[in-house]
Amino acid sequence: MATRPSIWILNGPNLNLLGEREPGIYGGESLADIEQRCRDAAETANLDLEFRQSNHEGELVAWIQEARISAAGLAINAGAYTHTSVAVHDALRLLDIPIVEVHLSNIFAREEFRHKSYISAAATGVVCGFGPMSYLLAIDALAARMDL
Ligand code: DQA
Repeated sequence: MATRPSIWILNGPNLNLLGEREPGIYGGESLADIEQRCRDAAETANLDLEFRQSNHEGELVAWIQEARISAAGLAINAGAYTHTSVAVHDALRLLDIPIVEVHLSNIFAREEFRHKSYISAAATGVVCGFGPMSYLLAIDALAARMDL
């Protein structure tokens, strides 16, 4: 059987606590709930999905480097590292595949320190503010880009 293209969705710090964490901002769904939605969307698009979360910057960097070999598209919600990590930015710049920056919340409607993203300049595009649907829109965007 031919292998299907694989998309990777990486999640950064504190996203393991979705559902418990500031539900007024991030909603009531857990990361496992979001993962299941992503699995359904990937299946519909006939894509394999690798879905991971880490609270550690270096682990995210290592996974991005791994995705460079294995992924046909990457979506990343880098959490707070979005606003701080030159290392994640540099790792993403090594990739030659479509990259979507994802956020549950609209980072531009929040505190000033969230308006700066180190991810955006290394990404193909950005989806933010749609809650868990941001992830599904990212999968759609990756699938469309990978068809080009
Ligand atoms: C977030 C927004 C970030 O500012 C924050 O640090 C997060 C989550 C989002 O999905 O809305 O951890 O990336």
